[in-house]
Amino acid sequence: MSDIANAYIPPAALTGSMRDFRVPGGADLLRRTEGFFKWQNLRRENGLWPFSRATEEGPSTVCWAQDDSGNKMRGVNFASQDYLSLSSHSGIKSTAKETIERFGVHSAGSPALVGNTSYSVALERKIADFLKMEEVVLYPTGWAAGFGVIKGLVRSADHVVMDMLSHSCLQEGANAATNNIHLFRHLDNEYCRDILTKIRSKDKENGILVVTEGLFSMDSDTPDLAALQALCHEFNATLVVDVAHDLGCLGDEGRGHIGIQNMLGKVDIVMGSFSKTFASNGGFVACKSRAVKEYLRFYSAPATFSNALSPVQAATILKAFEIVDSPEGRAQRSALMSNVLSLRHQLREAGLDYYGDPSAIVCVKMGTEGVARLVSQRLPELGLIANLVEFPAVPKGAARIRMQVMANHSEQNIADAVRMLKTARRQAELQFEDINQPASVAASVAA
Ligand SMILES: Cc1ncc(COP(=O)(O)O)c(C=O)c1O
Repeated sequence: MSDIANAYIPPAALTGSMRDFRVPGGADLLRRTEGFFKWQNLRRENGLWPFSRATEEGPSTVCWAQDDSGNKMRGVNFASQDYLSLSSHSGIKSTAKETIERFGVHSAGSPALVGNTSYSVALERKIADFLKMEEVVLYPTGWAAGFGVIKGLVRSADHVVMDMLSHSCLQEGANAATNNIHLFRHLDNEYCRDILTKIRSKDKENGILVVTEGLFSMDSDTPDLAALQALCHEFNATLVVDVAHDLGCLGDEGRGHIGIQNMLGKVDIVMGSFSKTFASNGGFVACKSRAVKEYLRFYSAPATFSNALSPVQAATILKAFEIVDSPEGRAQRSALMSNVLSLRHQLREAGLDYYGDPSAIVCVKMGTEGVARLVSQRLPELGLIANLVEFPAVPKGAARIRMQVMANHSEQNIADAVRMLKTARRQAELQFEDINQPASVAASVAA
């Protein structure tokens, strides 16, 4: 074990959270960032800041990476979002190269002007058909699509009713659009019904956007979409479902939970990202009318005032959709699901528990932030690259190591990862107990 994993750890590096610095006090906007930096640095100096890492050879199943102090690590990679392993697919790479030859590398304009290319137009059509929707608007990122669809449609007198665990892009979009935000308990459609009933008892004039995800990225669970859509119809509300993590990679046909739940073409609005399965940055909103599409094009700022997807991105994503929609895509999904089931099985055998239903996201329960940070500190040296997730991204005391599975992971990769996680967990628990002994707390206070 390295020196850092054996060294004395100041308790402050194992406690606190990013939430503590979200509203810093003081009139100097720049100086007041320093509290966060100090806390972050304490963690960094103790090897407990596993964020902002960079890979050295793309998101492959085994790769070199470095942390934000420049420390290099090589390991089995369960930290990248490339669920069908398409980012290194030869067809994707050759499409990108050919597109560069024809179009260069830049879109040089927003989609509202002349930023789109023939690839973007073909991609819009492909996604609309894939989802049995009528129209699609492309966005520069998935985040921009989530933010943009809410900010584009909702005005200050309207209401947003959202699953309390909805992604940051959806929450930020809602906050930017209206003060009338109502969160409902995760996946709880009855709770949602109560909120809709209350809103409509007072307000029949304004709009209601109900927001959820096809697959939640920290819990790997899914709402009953048919029931939620029916609820929206009942209360004259509109449903938007974010399918960032399930589209393309889940379900026999790759249509995610919308397909699995037989809801293709039946959800009011589908919003997604290309960055998990479709080998590129970018996002989209799919809707059922040209009117909605045209409105979003000109009133959803990231689709109007931000540069369009580059021709390379649009062509790459189009190729990725073709693969996803082919026998090869089906084979990759099946390889992904065998890996997921194998990982879950081996974790359980190793006494490690995880959240949710089978999907490319396998979040392993760690409990307190202190233990989770010590686990994550050990992983690079053992040879595992996996992400730490802690409060406020998830509830306090429910920290986890998020493993994101790819179709090209091997059985050996999975077995190695489980072995390393088990070792790290055992060592971290012992160290955490040690740190929390009264004697060492007293020593740390004295120090
Ligand atoms: C549920 C969800 N929606 C949207 C996004 C944003 O997508 P992108 O990374 O393409 O901006 C993410 C990314 O993590 C996500 O998890």
